[in-house]
Amino acid sequence: MKKISLKCAFNVLAANSSFCRNYSYKAVRRPDSTILSRKLTAPQVEAKPDEPQVQNDLTKHLKAKILAVGPITVADYMREVLTNPLSGYYMHRDVFGREGDFITSPEICQIFGELVAIWVVSEWRKLGSPTPFQIVELGPGRGTLARDVFKVLTQLKIAGQFSLHMVEISPHLSKIQAQRLCFSTETVTDDSSPHYQTGKTATGTRVYWHKRLEDVPRAFSIVLAHEFFDALPVHKLQRDGEVWKEVLIDVNSNDSTETADQLAFRYIISKAPTPISHLYQPIIGETRDCLEYSIDTDRIVSMLTERLESDGGIGLIMDYGHFGEKGDTFRAFKKHQLHEPLLAPGTADLTADVDFRQIKRIAEEHGKVLCFGPVDQGSFLKKMEGDARLEKLLTSALPENLEVIRSGYKMLTDPTQMGKRFKFFSMFPAVLRDHLDKFPVSGFH
Ligand SMILES: C[S@@+](CC[C@H](N)C(=O)[O-])C[C@H]1O[C@@H](n2cnc3c(N)ncnc32)[C@H](O)[C@@H]1O
Repeated sequence: MKKISLKCAFNVLAANSSFCRNYSYKAVRRPDSTILSRKLTAPQVEAKPDEPQVQNDLTKHLKAKILAVGPITVADYMREVLTNPLSGYYMHRDVFGREGDFITSPEICQIFGELVAIWVVSEWRKLGSPTPFQIVELGPGRGTLARDVFKVLTQLKIAGQFSLHMVEISPHLSKIQAQRLCFSTETVTDDSSPHYQTGKTATGTRVYWHKRLEDVPRAFSIVLAHEFFDALPVHKLQRDGEVWKEVLIDVNSNDSTETADQLAFRYIISKAPTPISHLYQPIIGETRDCLEYSIDTDRIVSMLTERLESDGGIGLIMDYGHFGEKGDTFRAFKKHQLHEPLLAPGTADLTADVDFRQIKRIAEEHGKVLCFGPVDQGSFLKKMEGDARLEKLLTSALPENLEVIRSGYKMLTDPTQMGKRFKFFSMFPAVLRDHLDKFPVSGFH
């Protein structure tokens, strides 16, 4: 077994920087304990409805749906708003960066992706460098993390040993990812194909795009998920005595003119338990009276767990989240500001903090995998020798880029910025227990 020393890996990395990228992240939680007592929701922040076409289409569609089937769950609302094929928020535009609505860690500074890449190589080598292998990314956004990871693996001369698999629902973002990663790309029109797009990098590595994790070939895989789970729909549950009820979304008014004071939709509480509030199994001793539950997360984590056990591999989840202590984190972002989630659906990002306690519970349920973390992002990056990488970048950066590199790295690691709110969580097949006792997982100890 070949281990990789982190310092040694840095020496292979290019000294130059593409300088740190900019801007504000989705850090602010929207504490809103009064959400259920308000009949008509007043906006949290001033926001004017815009992008009339998207808004009208989705508002009309959601209204029609509610009028036809009755109030819908928050999860249904979130799924439609984010991924409706015609007008979902992610489906037809680039929403990241200064010009978009929010920025994510890989977009802030290249050090993030480089350290994730070093982690991948280090853990893969500890497992005996199984080849060929797959790198799978769930929800790759603009493809920046995949590109930075790929660059490092190429510098370490392992690019020929793996294929890249992007699990991306958005046709528009998949095109941006392909442009940034591939030398040549092809769209696959055969509906029975497990991938809808393929490509090749300039160095010949094959890249595939899939709609769902179930479509990714079964093989030893290193699965990365950065700000993917926070985009999955959540149900909002509310305790009423001994029973759990569900928060639903109803039409507020039939008036077609939505204003910041008169929203088209409002929250209500289900009169009786719903299928999800029935299904949800709170942990013994649950003290929260309201919580968010993502059945989609449970499903994907179960599938991932089963794959890691039977095909081998490693999972790394990076996201903002909590360990079962938060109740109301559902919120919207637009132009780097908090936004009212029920206002102008489809024009703002919707998100909810990831419940790592629930992920760990599902992953470890059948003893198939071992979980490590969640640990704070700042702690992970520093243990991965981020400070040393920063120093190296600074020595070769142009003077005009020094400050942006420093402040980008600080934003990622500072506990008052992204260092504490964002977490790292990893999963390994349980059969590796003794091995991992001997060779602890980098960045987590
Ligand atoms: C918040 S963005 C994160 C992007 C990227 N990982 C980053 O950190 O910059 C969420 C990503 O997940 C994708 N996505 C959202 N829901 C999805 C789903 N159900 N299946 C596949 N991809 C999805 C979005 O299109 C987008 O690429």
